[in-house]
Amino acid sequence: MTDIQTIRSALEDVRFDAERRLGGASDLDALGEVERSILGKRSVLAGLGASLKDLDPSERAEAGRAIQQARQALVELVGELRRDLEKRDAERRLVEERLDLTEISCAARRLALHASSRSAGHLHLVTQTRDELEDTFISMGFDVVEGPEVETDWYNFEALNMPPDHPARGMWDTLYLRLGAPETVLLRTHTSPVQVRLMSKGELPIYSVMPGRCYRRDTPDARHLPVFHQIEGLVVDEGITFGDMAGVIEVFTEAFFGKGMHSRLRPSFFPFTEPSAEFEVTCPICAGVGCRTCSGSGWIELGGCGMVDPNVFVATGIDPERYSGFAFGFGIDRLAQVRTSLPDMRALLDNDVRFVSQF
Ligand code: DAH
Repeated sequence: MTDIQTIRSALEDVRFDAERRLGGASDLDALGEVERSILGKRSVLAGLGASLKDLDPSERAEAGRAIQQARQALVELVGELRRDLEKRDAERRLVEERLDLTEISCAARRLALHASSRSAGHLHLVTQTRDELEDTFISMGFDVVEGPEVETDWYNFEALNMPPDHPARGMWDTLYLRLGAPETVLLRTHTSPVQVRLMSKGELPIYSVMPGRCYRRDTPDARHLPVFHQIEGLVVDEGITFGDMAGVIEVFTEAFFGKGMHSRLRPSFFPFTEPSAEFEVTCPICAGVGCRTCSGSGWIELGGCGMVDPNVFVATGIDPERYSGFAFGFGIDRLAQVRTSLPDMRALLDNDVRFVSQF
């Protein structure tokens, strides 16, 4: 048997104990656990509710209300604490999972600045010059052909009318490779061996240009590089004359350098052409007036040319009685140097951004 006093003091204990334990619940999980133990089916409170039946009926309603009020107070307290903890939890997540937008926008701004100040880069001056040359010759009806940089003596010299020990071989300081018999494999000293390859294929007529890298055992200086570029031209057809050659060179000169620029030929010697010539073009710096670049002459020597020697036709299996042709060749790096008034060719290889970005 119990009475209302006992119940009231028990409720007091329950409230005291509940408040203490609820106060110690530091997160939502802990709160849930305390809630179950103070309000659940096996809680002291539930036990007190069950003990109402042992109470004198006159006190039962009052005791019931007291228990109900105590329960209600605890439910409200738990609700309040839950809202607090939920709020704190949300705040914590906000801090922990926060995206620092100021940081992102700083980074984005830095990236954007970086991107706008970084130029995309461009082709090297020599490549630009080569591309322009190709475009010019293509517009004149030529096609573009390439050949290997590692060549045999036959393509680089012998088929070009320079048998072994021919003195003209001395015109090119050759880099040989340790491959096969001594001095049979080399780095091509000019693009002329591509002519030989083309003619050997026997597909006539030929109207081709052949750009590419060449090598010579030269010490680099203001006007020489051991690795450089040439472009070769070759025309083989029936009835081709020296006049055709002069005309093609003149048309090229105007097309490439611009209106009012001209070409002229001076007698020269190459083993693979007969007759041979050197061709000069109006100095692109002073337009023919005379300046330091052209030593006051108004003309710049660009390359060599001539009528394909019949011996070259024979070596490549073309009938020299039926076909004739002309060839020409010149340095692309040298051309780039002249056009840009570059005092020292070595700048083309240094890859100094301050230099290359000017073009
Ligand atoms: N191969 C020559 C050189 O490297 C240039 C040259 C001269 C090419 C006359 C030709 C030519 O095709 O006909 O100096």
